[in-house]
Amino acid sequence: MKKNSIKRLSFKISAVTLFMLPLAKADAQTAANDAKMNAFVTSLMKKMTIDEKIGQLNLVTGGMAITGSVTNNGIDKGIVSGSIGGIFGLYGADNVRKAQDEAVKKTRLHIPLIFGLDVIHGHRTIFPIPLGMSATWDMDLIQNSAKIAAKEATAEGLNWVFSPMVDIARDARWGRISEGSGEDPYLGGKIAAAMVKGYQGTSMKNADAVMACVKHFALYGGAEAGREYNTVDMSRIRMYQDYLPPYKAALDAGAGSFMSSFNTVDGVPATANKWLLTDLLRKEWGFKGFVVSDYTAVNEVSNHGLGDLQTVSALSLKAGLDMDMVGEGFLTTLKKSLQQGKVTQAKIDLACRRVLEAKYKLGLFDNPYKSIDAEREKRDVFTEENRKAARIAAEHSFVLLKNTNQVLPLKKSGGSIALVGPLADNKRDMLGTWVIAGEWEKSISVMEGIKHIVGDNVKINYAKGSNITDDTTFMKRLNFGPDMVSLDSRSPEDMMDEAVKAAKKSDIIVAVVGESQSMSGESSSRSDIDIPESQKNMLKALAKTGKPMVIVLFNGRPLSLTWENENAAAILDVWAPGTEAGNAIGEVLFGNYNPSGKITATFPRSVGQIPIYYNHKNTGRPYTDGPTKFKSNYLDISNDPLYPFGYGLSYTTFNYSSIKLSKTKLKGNETLKATVTVTNTGKYAGEETVQLYIGDPVASISRSVKELKGFSKVILQPGQQKEVSFNITPELLKFYNTQLKYDWEPGEFTIEVGTNSYDTQSVKIQWMK
Ligand code: BGC
Repeated sequence: MKKNSIKRLSFKISAVTLFMLPLAKADAQTAANDAKMNAFVTSLMKKMTIDEKIGQLNLVTGGMAITGSVTNNGIDKGIVSGSIGGIFGLYGADNVRKAQDEAVKKTRLHIPLIFGLDVIHGHRTIFPIPLGMSATWDMDLIQNSAKIAAKEATAEGLNWVFSPMVDIARDARWGRISEGSGEDPYLGGKIAAAMVKGYQGTSMKNADAVMACVKHFALYGGAEAGREYNTVDMSRIRMYQDYLPPYKAALDAGAGSFMSSFNTVDGVPATANKWLLTDLLRKEWGFKGFVVSDYTAVNEVSNHGLGDLQTVSALSLKAGLDMDMVGEGFLTTLKKSLQQGKVTQAKIDLACRRVLEAKYKLGLFDNPYKSIDAEREKRDVFTEENRKAARIAAEHSFVLLKNTNQVLPLKKSGGSIALVGPLADNKRDMLGTWVIAGEWEKSISVMEGIKHIVGDNVKINYAKGSNITDDTTFMKRLNFGPDMVSLDSRSPEDMMDEAVKAAKKSDIIVAVVGESQSMSGESSSRSDIDIPESQKNMLKALAKTGKPMVIVLFNGRPLSLTWENENAAAILDVWAPGTEAGNAIGEVLFGNYNPSGKITATFPRSVGQIPIYYNHKNTGRPYTDGPTKFKSNYLDISNDPLYPFGYGLSYTTFNYSSIKLSKTKLKGNETLKATVTVTNTGKYAGEETVQLYIGDPVASISRSVKELKGFSKVILQPGQQKEVSFNITPELLKFYNTQLKYDWEPGEFTIEVGTNSYDTQSVKIQWMK
């Protein structure tokens, strides 16, 4: 550095010292911590043999959660020989302590293991499935759910969770849409960050914090035809604009690890994709943690057609993968590849360093047993407090899709209810997908929840009414665990008759129907997204009684509900609500809580509209007023969804004033303030999520018709009104152009504010550079 530049630098420092001081202090602290960590890991690695280094890259399953055809054997021996770096699918203080003892006491270098698990929406206390959690639009609540999950998971010895799942999904056929936050990158990014903060807390060294693992990197939700594990192929602009933001948001929130996905990205499997794992993730985004493969994903690179196990293991390592889950490709081939000059020592060292650094960041070298505590396991798990939080989360996640003539809320005393459907008196299906440690026997059924609220004040006439499905081939596929779905001993006709009789002697029908636990989640793609036929037949028979019908809908994905929307008086979408399902449903059905959820994935009218999403392009022949020839539409159906992104009703009504803008012509880095006044015009206190969308009708590329750029949840008493303002800066106008430059272009924009992505008011503005 030249002398005068030093002078300039020191002047700059003095000018900004006041503001910079806390930041500079924090940076200095981080740098000092990093230096300490580097020195520690370097000195440890000097002592390690090549086998011990490769051992750190090997993640095995303890067998308590298996999602492939391969598992690991001989784990005890593997730990002692130093050929295992971590275990997942093993939990419980005793189990984990035993394994950690072997690693710390019996291996040459006493390196602790890392213990992971798919803690996706709670550990023992199960919260709503992630798609349901996202419908809350409540970041504090979501962060808190992750914090509780971390507290419970660490109480059972875990220190690493395979969550958040942040894959954007626009295809309801894909079963894993249930595990993510829906279709929108902006909302998805906010939720991803909240989850990471909830899991990792203020320091991953804390005994009740875990390391997050952001998955599945990347673009897994773009699987063609919604078919599980299928090919993904999309333009770079779409990746950057619509699919990558949530991964980046999770990284910026400090996520310690990433998991590579099963699919291809630009023709190369993600697990062996150097552009993805190194150029983008590390060089462009600056990720400093480690990347683990998905379950046997390294081996599966062979099936993608990139070579034998030795070749694909080397490719994956060189691409930037650090840890190999289950398949043992790294363990069994990397040494040979090193000897044959197919990988370098430096690459193995780098991956080993990253795994050791993760253990260091978790504080495991200071105390390998930091969260293995039999007392905490008894005290901190499935507590009243945690269950209450899960109930509140569930209530907030429910979406009221329809409510004709205010049929809901139901009266708490007097009259009678026909409570029907295969999910009405059912505990098994309350929890949804990925509940490894969740005990369904402990969940609250809808029947129990309703009884808790009304006791004997309302007569309940119960009938199961139908099987979840009568299709035995489908049933076999659903039963990947013992007795997940079974056939009743009665005939479908007898069951239906019973339900109709119950309806006839009741004032109102509450039909609890939809998808069972294994109908969504991994490897649960469906080509037909209707409510299963057996249940639909029952609904049709019930509708014929003429009694008002409330549908309580369980679903891990948007379903096509055109018939239900026409024939039911009310539809309450409850997703898979978790441990406290029945209690939360009771609270909402009887009006103790007024539903406020809004859907985060578009509900199509029919499966044929998929992929369907609100932030689509205009096309050269836009759809305007219904299907016409030579426009971008269908001959047989409208383009419009049944329920658009952001949609959800309330027991009360909200009125929006017109949008007030601080300006309509702006320049450069100015800030635009957009304000609406929202009034509760109904009889119930309620919550409304006010949504801001921005459109960019003229640009150098074809842009989405609108994009979500802000939201705000307000609570309003009857008659109360509140102003909701959004501060809009040019940052919100930016997009990726053909050069993948993230910038905004001057000109006209539309500012839209409303109650969902379709029902908005729109104002034009001009923003010049
Ligand atoms: C899933 C991952 C999961 C892993 C470990 C895989 O089959 O794709 O989401 O984390 O198994 O259980």
